[in-house]
Amino acid sequence: MRSSCTSARQPARIAARPVLATKVIAAIVALFATGCTDRMATSNDRFGRSGELIAMSGGEGGARYACATCHGARGEGNGFDAPRLAGLPAGYLQKQMEDFALGLRPHELMRDVARFLDSHERVLVANHYAALEPRTLAPATTEAATEQTAALYARACQQCHGVDAAGTPAGPPLAGQPAFYTAQQLRDWQLSKRRGDGLHGMLRVAQELGAEDIRTLGLYLARIPPRPAPAGR
Ligand code: HEC
Ligand code: HEC
Repeated sequence: MRSSCTSARQPARIAARPVLATKVIAAIVALFATGCTDRMATSNDRFGRSGELIAMSGGEGGARYACATCHGARGEGNGFDAPRLAGLPAGYLQKQMEDFALGLRPHELMRDVARFLDSHERVLVANHYAALEPRTLAPATTEAATEQTAALYARACQQCHGVDAAGTPAGPPLAGQPAFYTAQQLRDWQLSKRRGDGLHGMLRVAQELGAEDIRTLGLYLARIPPRPAPAGR
């Protein structure tokens, strides 16, 4: 029910003035106005809206933002650039959507997806994926990582990401994520493009890694079968 949210009309009037600063303010107002219309739509939806419905339909954003298109019908990911969501901790999933929306993670498409969801919908869809059985697609390459990579993981990552990369309260699960996706994230941390980690632990860790470490860590982690994250996240 967009029309019932009057503040949504405000930005158009302000933006008509040709001053750049005013336009910036108008854009910010527009952002809040969108949140307002989203909330109105939610509270007026007499059928309610479950996380599963958002995952399958894309919520307010429409079909092009349907999570299942890229993250798989059962949250298994696409084996390439879209990670598995099934069985990841709900708090982690929700935080990532906040980070995409705020620009703390650099991905235009996921930024738009996240901005179309209000905070309640982000919680619903996060809970939906967290409750699914952890599953993933088979690794895209047959190349296996070496024992050196396993040792690097045990030395530099396991403390936070856990045995078998199943996650701990100090870091999310990494098992069964596509090798391409994991390598991309490590490069994003390295260049400080992804910076949702308040204590900068991932920035420091990633800056110690060379290009070949990143590639082989991706292969190594993709081959570990995912299992449910321990409770507490
Ligand atoms: C058109 C494809 C596409 C759609 C639709 C899509 N995603 Fe994504 N999603 C991606 C890609 C690609 C990434 C990896 C972004 C990156 O490299 O940082 C991602 C990343 C994520 C992450 C981060 C996971 C992690 O392990 O850090 C979450 C959470 C997420 N998406 C949730 C959703 C939800 C919820 C929806 C539906 C409301 C959705 N996505 C719709 C492609 C998509
Ligand atoms: C001091 C703790 C710590 C250490 C050590 C650590 N990480 Fe992390 N890592 C984190 C945290 C916390 C996050 C999630 C930050 C956020 O909320 O975005 C994370 C996120 C990640 C992600 C993104 C996961 C996703 O689904 O998008 C990858 C990939 C990753 N770490 C790989 C590694 C690797 C590889 C190592 C070892 C070389 C490592 N980490 C060492 C704490 C750590």
